[in-house]
Amino acid sequence: MLNSAPASLTIGPMEKLVVRGGPDFRLTGRVRVSGAKNAVLPAISACLLTAEEVRLDNVPLVKDVHTMLTLIEGLGGTCRLEGNTLTVRVADIRSDEASYELVRAMRASILVLGPLLARFGRAVVALPGGCAIGSRPVDLHIAGLQKLGASISLEHGNIQARAGRLRGGVIEFDKKTVTGTENLLMAAALAKGETVLKNCAREPEVTDLAALLNKMGARIEWVDEDTARVRGVKALGGAAHDIIPDRIETGTFLVAGALTAGDILLDEVVPAHAAAVIEKLRASGTSVEPEGERGLRVVGGPDVKPQDITTSPYPGFPTDMQAQFMVLLTQAPGTSILTETIFDRRFSHVNELVRLGAAIEVQGDKAVVKGKTPLSGAEVVATDLRASASLVLAGLIAAGETVISEIEHLDRGYERIENKLRGLGASIERITA
Ligand code: EPZ
Repeated sequence: MLNSAPASLTIGPMEKLVVRGGPDFRLTGRVRVSGAKNAVLPAISACLLTAEEVRLDNVPLVKDVHTMLTLIEGLGGTCRLEGNTLTVRVADIRSDEASYELVRAMRASILVLGPLLARFGRAVVALPGGCAIGSRPVDLHIAGLQKLGASISLEHGNIQARAGRLRGGVIEFDKKTVTGTENLLMAAALAKGETVLKNCAREPEVTDLAALLNKMGARIEWVDEDTARVRGVKALGGAAHDIIPDRIETGTFLVAGALTAGDILLDEVVPAHAAAVIEKLRASGTSVEPEGERGLRVVGGPDVKPQDITTSPYPGFPTDMQAQFMVLLTQAPGTSILTETIFDRRFSHVNELVRLGAAIEVQGDKAVVKGKTPLSGAEVVATDLRASASLVLAGLIAAGETVISEIEHLDRGYERIENKLRGLGASIERITA
């Protein structure tokens, strides 16, 4: 049975983070980046595809992992999390349902749809609602699975899916979808015959899932930049796999170093996965240099230069780094424009940053930042995972005390970020209000 969640995965009644910062505050030292949340969630779902044991290492102890393990256990799987090592075995299932409560808590629950259909021929997954960053449709997931022979209806807010053995087909995604590509890779792995997936998302988390599936016996090959050919097999076996480092946590700490004109060495990272963010940091006057095979050293410059940034699918500038980078640009003299092309409402952090003294105006899909503005501490509310991270970053340079509430959003994707920041010299603590 799932052992009790480690302390880092439970949240108190009303926890808040208190950050004491200022314009002359510097972050210095060394920090180890955790495994990627957006890699471990599909990897855990992939365990549904086999009756054998799968072992995952470098698992981040974040709330979404606990939610996903609760979901897998609810379906009938057995999970054991010891330190950062997770073993999962789904010999059979006793339920095929992912409840609305779980899907609401974590949209990534949609990732059980493909595996459940492929191995068991049935799945009932609550239709994810919207969330703080915008509407979150799953029409591309459904259309792809229907192409592989699934019959899917939407009833009472649930995706009701049934299939005999899925059969291969040619699927071209209308737009790049990370979890859509992941769902279809997992479904096609067990389908009869060959599947070609066109216009796939190429985030590192997607290609790493394909690598895990191939270790389990799948036959996936990348035909070109964004086309995958999958030769279906009858069954998949167990495997052992290391979760790749979190490129968004990497970017978050790089921005923290830039923001405080600090000097931070990041361990256990894959620099190539953060290339777009590194390029923009260098353009804004920050030094970012590789340190050995799996390290990056960030040294913040005396001045920040304004930048225009447009988010786009990998390898472009990641939408998950837009909120964090916006904080840095509040310190750049001049005008910076951030254009958010992936989600239709991913600026909820703007109002909170304005409360701290930033001068930002949202105009449609653009946020226009006028800098340089000194920030001063205030009470702010976290609204989604990456917005929360941007408020913590802003608190580091805001004069006085910044109190951030609703930090359960932060715990979904960062493993006790306050401990890591305190290790770099930050004055930050978690209180139970
Ligand atoms: C994944 O979400 C990530 N989550 C998100 O990270 C990330 O922001 C996003 O990819 C974009 O990189 C996980 O990997 C668990 P999409 P996902 O499907 O897969 C539209 C975080 O902070 N779309 O790539 O849900 C969609 O509305 C989270 O860690 C459809 O129209 O994103 C969006 O505009 C937040 N129909 C765009 O595509 C569909 O069927 C990209 O969405 C699916 C998506």
